[in-house]
Amino acid sequence: MTQQFFDLFSKTLSDGVLLKLTLSKPRKSAPEGLKNVYLRPVMLKKGPHVAFNYRFQTRDEVKNHTFEEAGQVLQHLLDSAFYNAEMMTPAADYSLQLDDKKPPRLLEKKPSMPAETVTLAHDRDKHRRLDPAAPWLHALGICSSEGKVHANQQDKWRQIDKYLETIEHLLKQQPLPDDAFIADMGSGKGYLTFALYDFLTKRLGLKPRITGIELRQHLVDFCNKTARENGFDGLSFVAIDIREYHPERLDMLIALHACDTATDLALAGGIREKAAIIVAAPCCHKQVRRDMHTQNEMAPLLQHGILEERQAEILTDGIRALLLEAEGYKTQVFEFISTEHTPKNVMITALKTAKTPPASRKKAALEKVEALKKGFGLKEHYLETLLNL
Ligand SMILES: C[S@@+](CC[C@H](N)C(=O)[O-])C[C@H]1O[C@@H](n2cnc3c(N)ncnc32)[C@H](O)[C@@H]1O
Repeated sequence: MTQQFFDLFSKTLSDGVLLKLTLSKPRKSAPEGLKNVYLRPVMLKKGPHVAFNYRFQTRDEVKNHTFEEAGQVLQHLLDSAFYNAEMMTPAADYSLQLDDKKPPRLLEKKPSMPAETVTLAHDRDKHRRLDPAAPWLHALGICSSEGKVHANQQDKWRQIDKYLETIEHLLKQQPLPDDAFIADMGSGKGYLTFALYDFLTKRLGLKPRITGIELRQHLVDFCNKTARENGFDGLSFVAIDIREYHPERLDMLIALHACDTATDLALAGGIREKAAIIVAAPCCHKQVRRDMHTQNEMAPLLQHGILEERQAEILTDGIRALLLEAEGYKTQVFEFISTEHTPKNVMITALKTAKTPPASRKKAALEKVEALKKGFGLKEHYLETLLNL
């Protein structure tokens, strides 16, 4: 019976019809706290694999195996850790029930998912960047323990999803190495940092080292504890000032809603370390607004506080984008998420396209910066000062 189940598993995999396999009813010898293991096929950069999601009481651990390895791992798990296996396919569900005292039973049942919902679920799953039932989402107060997004966290959930969509898009243009070094500067409570780690490891099968940099010690302690509880080995947080963080290597820099000039400190760090990808969503813009004395034809418009504030934001971020271009990056500035959900909604992304930018390109970008500064009576832009241009 057991062998018949393994043969069915192999055939289901090679026919491409495995929807899901769930291991349940843990044995006494199962690792402590392990409740279930969920298997599903995934397409990674290195080819088709089976993702084994180990669900412990307070954390998830995902291991990807090739189709060949998957059968052996499944066999080992049934020998040592679980009594039950439920395999879902579009044609039928198969239930293997083991018992220490009785012979194993293999039951074939009607498929629990009708064909059309199977396709829909498959499609939704393929496009879903995060599993809302991941325990870290519960620990951070975004979802319930059953994986339901709390009503007052819907905006945050949308923001996380849009963020991951942006990252996914950037990685298609500029893939990261498997062991990418990533810094998230001004990581706060860490929900976007955790989301990135979860997405890169579980969805893309990478093994990144992500470091959250955050001034507030209690947030760092909370995030490190949550990362440990979730088995996120490559994710850690340190309580230091962004300006003091000098990693040995940096492939991607993230700075989301870091206050005022903290965004410039982060961008300068990313540029200095030659990060291949930079993603920044600026927060408040104080420096330029304070130092701006408009002398061009815009002056009459900017006597109104709100217009002056918006102009200062445009100037701050526009100059940031130009300075990134001067440093060999291809930049984009766009609406991150509708203002309906958050007023901090501009995102700047930058991909390093030239190790050393051509002198003519750098000169042209810096001339534009100079002209803007002159028109708006701006003595300095903090990022330019940091880069010493
Ligand atoms: C508005 S929160 C954003 C948190 C998170 N990135 C997000 O988007 O949800 C900005 C965080 O940056 C931290 N921060 C500001 N300046 C910093 C600096 N110079 N070094 C390290 N952290 C800083 C603040 O303590 C705060 O937690």
